[in-house]
Amino acid sequence: MSLAGAAGAEELIFYVNGRKVIEKNADPEQMLLSYLRKRLHLTGTKYGCGGGGCGACTVMLSVYEPASKKIRHYSANACLLPICSLYGVAVTTVEGVGSTETRVHPVQERLAKCHGSQCGFCTPGMVMSIYALLRNHPEPTSEQMMASLAGNLCRCTGYRPILDACKTFCKESTCCQGKANGKCCLDQEDDIFDKEEKVSTRLFSADEFQPLDPTQELIFPPELMRMAENQPKRTLVFHGERMTWISPASLEELLDLKAAHPKAPLVVGNTSVGPEMKFKGVFHPVVISPARIPDLNVVQYTDDGITLGAACSLSVVKDILTSAISEFPEEKTKVFCAVVKQLTTLGGEQIRNVASIGGNIISRKSTSDLNPVLAASNCLLNLASRGRRRQIPLSDIFADGVGNNTITPEEILVSVHIPYSRKGEHVSAFRQAPRRENALPISCAGMRVLFEEGTDIIKDFSIFYGGAVSTTTWAKQTCQTLVGRHWNEQLLDEACRLVLKEIALSDSASGKKIDYKRTLMVSFFYRFFLEVLQSLQIMDPSHYPGIPMEYRSALQDFKTKMPQSIQIFQDTEPSQSPQDPVGRPIMHQSGIKHATGEAVYIDDLPSVDGELFMAVVTSSKAHAKIVSIDSSEALEGPGVFGIVTADDVPATNEFYYTYEPEIVFARNKVICVGQIVCAVLADSDVHARQAAAKVKIEYEVLEPVILTIEEAIKHNSFFEPKRKLEQGNVDQAFDTVDNIIEGELRIGGQEHFYMETQSVLAVPRGEDKEMDMYVSTQHPTTIQEMVAASLGVPANRIMCHVRRVGGAFGGKILRAGLLASAAAVAANKSKRAVRLILSRGDDMLITGGRHPFLAKYKVGFMNDGRIRAVDTKYYINGGCTPNESVEVGEVALLKMDNAYKIPNLRCWACVCKTNLPSNTAFRGFGFPQAGLVTETWITEVAEKAGLSPEKVREINMYKGNEQTHFKQQLDAENLIRCWNECMEKSAYYSRKAAISEFNKQNYWKKKGIAIVPLKFPFGIGTRYLSQAAALVHIYTDGSVLLTHGGVEMGQGVHTKMIQVASRELNIPMSRIHFCETSTTTVPNACASAGSAGTDVNGMAVKDACQTLLKRLQPIMNKNPKGTWNDWVKEAFEQSVNLSATGYFRGYNENMDWEKGEGKPFSYFLYGAACSEVEINCLTGDHKNLRTDIVMDVGCSINPAVDIGQIEGACVQGIGLYTMEELKYSPEGALCTRGPDQYKIPAVCDIPEQFSVSLLSSSQNPYAIYASKGIGEAGFFLGCSVFFALRDALTRVRNERGLKKPFALNSPLTAEQIRAGCADDFTEMITNDASSCICVNDKPECTRPGWTGRKN
Ligand SMILES: Cc1cc2nc3c(=O)[nH]c(=O)nc-3n(C[C@H](O)[C@H](O)[C@H](O)COP(=O)(O)OP(=O)(O)OC[C@H]3O[C@@H](n4cnc5c(N)ncnc54)[C@H](O)[C@@H]3O)c2cc1C
Ligand code: FES
Ligand code: FES
Repeated sequence: MSLAGAAGAEELIFYVNGRKVIEKNADPEQMLLSYLRKRLHLTGTKYGCGGGGCGACTVMLSVYEPASKKIRHYSANACLLPICSLYGVAVTTVEGVGSTETRVHPVQERLAKCHGSQCGFCTPGMVMSIYALLRNHPEPTSEQMMASLAGNLCRCTGYRPILDACKTFCKESTCCQGKANGKCCLDQEDDIFDKEEKVSTRLFSADEFQPLDPTQELIFPPELMRMAENQPKRTLVFHGERMTWISPASLEELLDLKAAHPKAPLVVGNTSVGPEMKFKGVFHPVVISPARIPDLNVVQYTDDGITLGAACSLSVVKDILTSAISEFPEEKTKVFCAVVKQLTTLGGEQIRNVASIGGNIISRKSTSDLNPVLAASNCLLNLASRGRRRQIPLSDIFADGVGNNTITPEEILVSVHIPYSRKGEHVSAFRQAPRRENALPISCAGMRVLFEEGTDIIKDFSIFYGGAVSTTTWAKQTCQTLVGRHWNEQLLDEACRLVLKEIALSDSASGKKIDYKRTLMVSFFYRFFLEVLQSLQIMDPSHYPGIPMEYRSALQDFKTKMPQSIQIFQDTEPSQSPQDPVGRPIMHQSGIKHATGEAVYIDDLPSVDGELFMAVVTSSKAHAKIVSIDSSEALEGPGVFGIVTADDVPATNEFYYTYEPEIVFARNKVICVGQIVCAVLADSDVHARQAAAKVKIEYEVLEPVILTIEEAIKHNSFFEPKRKLEQGNVDQAFDTVDNIIEGELRIGGQEHFYMETQSVLAVPRGEDKEMDMYVSTQHPTTIQEMVAASLGVPANRIMCHVRRVGGAFGGKILRAGLLASAAAVAANKSKRAVRLILSRGDDMLITGGRHPFLAKYKVGFMNDGRIRAVDTKYYINGGCTPNESVEVGEVALLKMDNAYKIPNLRCWACVCKTNLPSNTAFRGFGFPQAGLVTETWITEVAEKAGLSPEKVREINMYKGNEQTHFKQQLDAENLIRCWNECMEKSAYYSRKAAISEFNKQNYWKKKGIAIVPLKFPFGIGTRYLSQAAALVHIYTDGSVLLTHGGVEMGQGVHTKMIQVASRELNIPMSRIHFCETSTTTVPNACASAGSAGTDVNGMAVKDACQTLLKRLQPIMNKNPKGTWNDWVKEAFEQSVNLSATGYFRGYNENMDWEKGEGKPFSYFLYGAACSEVEINCLTGDHKNLRTDIVMDVGCSINPAVDIGQIEGACVQGIGLYTMEELKYSPEGALCTRGPDQYKIPAVCDIPEQFSVSLLSSSQNPYAIYASKGIGEAGFFLGCSVFFALRDALTRVRNERGLKKPFALNSPLTAEQIRAGCADDFTEMITNDASSCICVNDKPECTRPGWTGRKN
């Protein structure tokens, strides 16, 4: 059938939230996400990545299946769902689940009330994943709940409160059942109450929750049911601007279409085609959707296996195989078990619900988890083309490697036959990914062996690997060579060597990591070898000895379990008025709106008449002269309005905050890949992006191109000034110490990965050059100043408004200012509103992140562990412009002592100027890096002195009233209290002993534990940078409008400010409203940064409220029995001013860098964290078992918010230190530009037990209500996981007699952990390959033999 022959364009009919949608002009290129947001104005569904990797866009789809007469509900990512695939489907979005105007659904209510939302940007996606699960399983198990959230990322909360909400729906008890060191979580609670302190563990009250009532859900639209039952199936065709979608109804039609359009892809889930079109510029003028064809959806049980239609979703496949496993004898289901194992961790549930088995197979990606196991298991493919049907083994499509063209372009895959396993057959599948769930594998494998009956002689053998080259690879020769051999150690040895020889990984292997992949190849085989040995032993124990106990640990994978957690905080005094909210765990002011999707972010703002969309064009060269910019082709694109360059900037394009500029649009030359050169304006974001891709820029490369710290040192390329702090006499001290260690530590950068990408809406007001700027920023004043300077107008013409920000973490200050300037320039030029919403890829490419560090240190210490001298230098990769990099270096120096008194100390910070995007502020601002260096040398001192790390920490810790290395006084009492309490609460010593016992019994799994103290100085360093103001209006109806200079970005500042105002005015919180942060109400506000939001704005709000109260006092005195409304009314009638500003001058902080002393901080927070981990020595995988945190936050204003900040920051820290890895091309282009390549912690990464205790009876005279600013401090505690991993590795190495000191850099990824566990397999690789791995020392004594028997 030709295109012309296909019927004319159809009306697309589907339902959204119970309403019928008829789309007459359905565009095949349009995804449901943009349709919902732009066309239906349902903005609750969010854009987080556009590639299926974050879950922010999760919706529920419901389909009626006439055959079974059942309705299937499932979650899906709207960003990858073509609207054309939705014919006859009912879509439910967060708005359809519940709203404040109708009824808030229990899922929404509980997420909000359990404090499961901070910035709220991920929350609608979370709601939808949980909701879809509950529609199918109203009382789910905790495993189902965890699985349903695997595809949803949250950058703020650390997931614990979200899971608390989830647990309220699960049927089983949420108690730990005594699994934690033999002690039940509930007993621990009893212990707490035994003490005198009045503490609480209740952050929410479940009694308030409405019950889940499945009868209240939206019904499936009867019309869609009728359509599915009665309508004859016919071909559907949709024509878009550039693309045609054809959905045939029968196989014959499909084959005709495929013959007519051999190049057209068959799109089922669009999870492979979609990302290629979006991110790789692939375009298909015609796509064919075969999903409705019955032949492609068959499920057929045959004598020798199960045949599954190629369009069956992975979830359907998983369900079918899982039920087959429970029905059929074990012997027959080994293939099914291996496939289900892979399916459990493949993608998130949203992906598995739509991705098809056929799509996974036919895409032939190297990262396919299924192809290796299906190919190894002798699966068969049923192929069809016009007039031809054939069946081939799946392995055939990998037989000749990458260029294989076994399947012709006209052929389609109808179904896949998965066979039963046979007697004497063993099948397994393996994978290792950068994150255990929802991450493509680095390497995976499928293995199968069949023995001659009753023997261990190999009859048939197959091994397939993924991740090696650009498709699945068959170790065919290895397998053929080994047929006829016995399953013994000689075989193992030979198989490993043969496999390494046969599967040659080239430098172009996907994702590199060559040595790691090779190690995994043999490690997987070893695991298979052991599994089979074990089975042989079970079959015939007299012949086959099996494997020793301690090796059995190799056989188990880590499983994700529902974490247990406890949060302990000090209760309010009984005498406190019940109306006074201070000190209570109050829900986030926007919590319910986050959960219903009503909370408005920049891109949710309705479009302004004539609005234009802006897409940026970025540099592809790291250092080059711009020779020419050719925009002619771009300007011809549909809907294009124009182009904006540096020449369009009326005034300031280069901002000189130091001696080198921050640049809006590159002029003449570029200094990094990702620098904005120009931008295209068009009538839609799609047109703007399409046109931007057509702008041609010619460059002349300039030398040098400096990317790394080493290159910067070589070229003496630094931002000045270099900073230094020194105390004592370092050189002399080195002469008197017993020992000296020297070392180096590298810490990689980190992407902010706020869920809401940088967003700006610039709206010219049309008068007096005024412009409204709606920006996702943590610093509206900067936006105002930069936009005014760029446009050359006074600041009083620019009004910046921020209602809320979907996460910032330091990344939305200067960068947001430059982007706002760019959008404002465009709005000024076009005289139209301009919307600039960065795609995730552009955001990651352009905006920079946390600074990578290279630290060099020399430490002198006594045999008893006392550290006498430290000399350390931090080289910091600042990127291409100064930004705040020198300040980051300064903070690194001021905080590098962490919790330790070092009598003789010298430290340097040198900021390298490179050709990477400019790095910027990020939660912790240099301390997370400097602190990690300090804890590393502390650990090394302990190793060298033969002491435990905790002893060396204790010996060197600040004890009483002490002086820092810059001569500021501190009182360390609470540091010691936190440390001791953490020791006690974590049962450190008994667990350490239990770990040693575990490690003795397990060779391939090892546990490790570490406890790390924290001293976190609070301060901005300069008084004027911590000034703050507030404005409070009381209206005549008694309601109060509060505003202040702080920006709400998830940290709960508005909630806390309303608490403050409520206490001060003595009125309920419900009377107080916060609308937006704006430069029109509070001028010159400082950035919401550095943990200071509550401290400084709280003082200002208090001041304003007290002013108002003072004015009202005479009226209140006169009428003491009157109500608030009476007094307000009376005040108005007496012409009392009911509006007041409040002001806080800022903290008296200073630092003299010449002298190296000062009082740059106002006070100190303290804390400690103890973490326990388990590592898999064969793969490098690890599991975070438990983290206990004790934190001194003074008197918490809102314990739920503060605990949320600690947990969220800690999990972000775990990300930095153990998994988040930025990768650049040799040309300096960031390769990791989305959640598919850059892995932030997901729900599977949080500790299985996670407790946080706020130190009780802690006062802070320097901040509002004796509280302490907590936004950043918890981040560093994530490094306790790093050191627990290090401890586990040390134990591995000690057991193996590996004497060489080893350096572990951050992030401590699975790759490094595997390399650290040097064994015969890593030795094979180092001997075999020319390139070196991180730790390539040879084990002095390895295990006695691979099977445990002595050779
Ligand atoms: C966020 C994310 C995470 C993922 N994680 C994993 C993972 O961990 N492990 C893993 O293995 N995979 C993973 N994937 C890949 C995913 O499993 C595959 O993209 C999916 O199975 C492809 O199925 P689809 O229906 O979406 O294919 P589509 O994108 O619809 O089509 C893919 C290709 O297959 C062809 N095709 C489809 N059906 C047929 C047919 N019947 N006959 C002939 N050709 C056909 C099409 O022509 C097209 O070229 C992930 C994908 C995403 C987006
Ligand atoms: S926006 Fe769809 S998964 Fe991220
Ligand atoms: S609350 Fe989850 S991303 Fe902010």
